[in-house]
Amino acid sequence: MIDAVVYGASEVVVGPDQTQEDAAVVVEDGRVRTVGPSDDLVREFPPENAVTSVDATGRAVIPGFVDAHTHGLFAGDRSDEFAAKLRGKTYQDILAEGGGILRTVRAVRAASDERLLGNLLAHLDTMLAHGTTTVEVKSGYGLDTETELRMLDAIAAADARHPVDVVPTFMGAHAVPEGRDADEYTDEVIDEQLPAVAEQGVAEFCDVFCEEGVFSVEQSRRVLDAGIEYGLAPKVHAEELAHIGGSQLAADIGAVSADHLLYATEDDAAALADAGVTPVLLPGTAFSLGAEYADPSLFAEAGAPVAVASDFNPNCHSQSMGMAVALACVGMGMAPRDALDAATRGGALALDRTDDTGTLREGAPADLAVLDAPSHAHVPYSFGVNRVATVLKRGDVVHDADGLAVPSPGSGR
Ligand code: NIG
Ligand code: FE
Repeated sequence: MIDAVVYGASEVVVGPDQTQEDAAVVVEDGRVRTVGPSDDLVREFPPENAVTSVDATGRAVIPGFVDAHTHGLFAGDRSDEFAAKLRGKTYQDILAEGGGILRTVRAVRAASDERLLGNLLAHLDTMLAHGTTTVEVKSGYGLDTETELRMLDAIAAADARHPVDVVPTFMGAHAVPEGRDADEYTDEVIDEQLPAVAEQGVAEFCDVFCEEGVFSVEQSRRVLDAGIEYGLAPKVHAEELAHIGGSQLAADIGAVSADHLLYATEDDAAALADAGVTPVLLPGTAFSLGAEYADPSLFAEAGAPVAVASDFNPNCHSQSMGMAVALACVGMGMAPRDALDAATRGGALALDRTDDTGTLREGAPADLAVLDAPSHAHVPYSFGVNRVATVLKRGDVVHDADGLAVPSPGSGR
């Protein structure tokens, strides 16, 4: 069954270094059957016979964004910290005063299951409207077994209910709870939280905030090693606020990704490249912290393809991957096409997706966005503006702001 024919596109971004102009995308059984010249494909696969036809005349078609790093499940409001940071307070000052992550922890512990799920679903709606079709969401605002499990339950429930694919990460080691000692809390994560998380069976990854004043390299290593024992693939928050060796740790243990990397060095980049760890760059974080951006040229020179992600969280409050791409260009000097590839295929690598997710190659999941612009370059060029018109997830139309999709008369949909 042909699910969809997206025709007339001025360009289709197929994957890194692969673009087709005047092209169509044919979707069969939720996957890309073929991408090719629109005139030929429209003759071979008449759009009116497909379940849905999408008139993309003069528009660019890109793979759906794969947002590989978010803390998108939270409660409460920290908008006042934005102003405090502009007045000169640092992220660490705010955390040391019991604000920041610890404030969100109090709000999440107090929130009902329904509230947590409702909050996440609302954010997923926004992400989808901005072209995200797969998103990673971390726990880590519970910092106790019960609340960490409640967060992972909400993430699983949102994944089951929402068209966006939600990839769950356990991050009990996101901060040291108030009044606790880091070593003793590390033991709790390993001895109590991880076994319960493994038993629950939701989480796919285990992440840790390896940072000066949070978890040391040794504490981080213990958590991630234990996670590996329970079948959770490791990810590391590395060199975000200071350089303490999180990237070398990520390389040593064969992490799937090392994320942030604002203070990473050439040696770090080489170690990550050698170990096949995907560097995840989060320009929104540097933007909202007023910090120096990570340097993507380090990773390009080392030969490690990077991901760009949103880091959507109460400290970096943007669900928009288009904005992350714009900041990757303007803040980190990436070329628009490289930034787009990093936000799509790069994100899929950072989530260890091996089925061509994040591309529109033959056989890839048919997750795509039709823009209201003639080329992908308009994503960063029109910064702060959403250029996504229509979104298909596994070949189904799940968002259609401009009414481009037409169900075929006989399809029954
Ligand atoms: O990726 N660095 C730690 N975690 C988040 C911030 C979370 C928060 O401030 O609530 C990050 O930037
Ligand atoms: Fe983070």
